[in-house]
Amino acid sequence: MSIFDCQMIDLPRISDPRGNLTFVESDRHIPFDIKRVYYLYDVPGGAERGGHAHKALHQLIIAMSGSFDIHLDDGNSRKTVHLNRSYNGLYVCPMIWREIDNFSSGAVCMVLASDYYDEEDYFRDYNTFTNCVRGDK
Ligand code: TYD
Repeated sequence: MSIFDCQMIDLPRISDPRGNLTFVESDRHIPFDIKRVYYLYDVPGGAERGGHAHKALHQLIIAMSGSFDIHLDDGNSRKTVHLNRSYNGLYVCPMIWREIDNFSSGAVCMVLASDYYDEEDYFRDYNTFTNCVRGDK
């Protein structure tokens, strides 16, 4: 798994003068079944979130409101993605270290996840993560 597997997904958009509508369906628009949804909000200016990798979890990250930057790192390559549209989702595959910052005021970051919360699925130490990735080769 590499950062090149982490792609922006253009979600369906139903445009309407009454307001636009977007929807996400498991296995149709994203490559996994959704088991959990969580969201970050009331993020103070200058705060950073993330700072971990998941062993097996697949995620789709959406800026429901406002904007933020997501920095992805697979232990070999890095890239930064700016999210600012409610109809775009960033797919993040397993074994990717991510940090999220540059939250705009009022930003809401929603995450669709392939499994329930499980602390055992986390790498919270960057060196442990990179050692594991490099050891896998
Ligand atoms: P964490 O995943 O570190 O948040 P972030 O990715 O935004 O930095 O989680 C922060 C805390 O919330 C941590 O104590 C675990 C808890 N938590 C849950 O209980 N359930 C969840 O679904 C999530 C994502 C986190």
